[in-house]
Amino acid sequence: MRTRIFQIAVTIAFLLCVGNAYAGTTAPADMMLVAPAGMQARKPDVPFSHTLHAKQGLECKTCHHTWNGASEMRKCGSPGCHDQPGKKDGMSFYKAFHDSRSEKSCVGCHKAAKKAGNIKAPTSCRQCHVKK
Ligand code: HEC
Ligand code: HEC
Ligand code: HEC
Repeated sequence: MRTRIFQIAVTIAFLLCVGNAYAGTTAPADMMLVAPAGMQARKPDVPFSHTLHAKQGLECKTCHHTWNGASEMRKCGSPGCHDQPGKKDGMSFYKAFHDSRSEKSCVGCHKAAKKAGNIKAPTSCRQCHVKK
């Protein structure tokens, strides 16, 4: 009986590990967001913290809106995504981060958060495009 319970426990532990490996997309804690290769950056790069945003109770899919839970995380500026230069185009790289009408974008969500009373969500250029 004892060994049987032990075997079951080992099997469950094994399955849990395999399960984690499959769903195991881990977010890097801190990263620098940069313009994609080929696009000349006019503004300083932007630091981004997954840890801080996880504390806001945000789901991965709020930002990684093409992610299905198992696929690879695509970069915002991947070909076919927000890969257009300029500002106006709906699929422009710029708009992915500054569309004030979409809460998937940095500025859009921060503006909404500010409106709701959270003064810690930055909305001015300098606060995100931090000088190195
Ligand atoms: C909430 C954060 C945030 C705010 C506020 C913000 N940006 Fe950005 N911006 C980003 C992110 C993230 C990127 C993409 C990563 C990168 O290019 O470094 C970006 C990219 C850009 C780009 C394209 C890349 C480049 O460097 O040329 C421009 C231009 C830009 N921002 C201008 C501005 C201006 C002007 C303002 C103020 C009106 C502003 N941003 C406010 C986060 C922000
Ligand atoms: C507030 C928005 C936001 C949330 C929430 C978020 N991420 Fe991200 N994540 C980003 C941005 C922005 C990038 C950079 C994308 C790029 O490079 O174009 C990124 C990049 C990544 C990368 C790629 C890192 C690399 O170096 O290529 C992984 C993996 C990732 N996130 C996992 C997660 C997971 C898992 C969660 C949920 C637990 C999550 N993210 C939640 C915004 C977010
Ligand atoms: C869906 C909502 C949401 C999105 C999308 C989002 N943020 Fe935020 N972010 C927040 C909130 C809420 C805070 C305020 C955190 C607090 O209360 O401490 C915040 C805070 C920040 C801060 C301030 C950190 C500090 O040290 O105080 C930075 C920088 C930041 N976000 C960058 C970004 C960038 C860059 C993006 C886009 C790649 C982004 N955020 C996307 C909700 C969001």
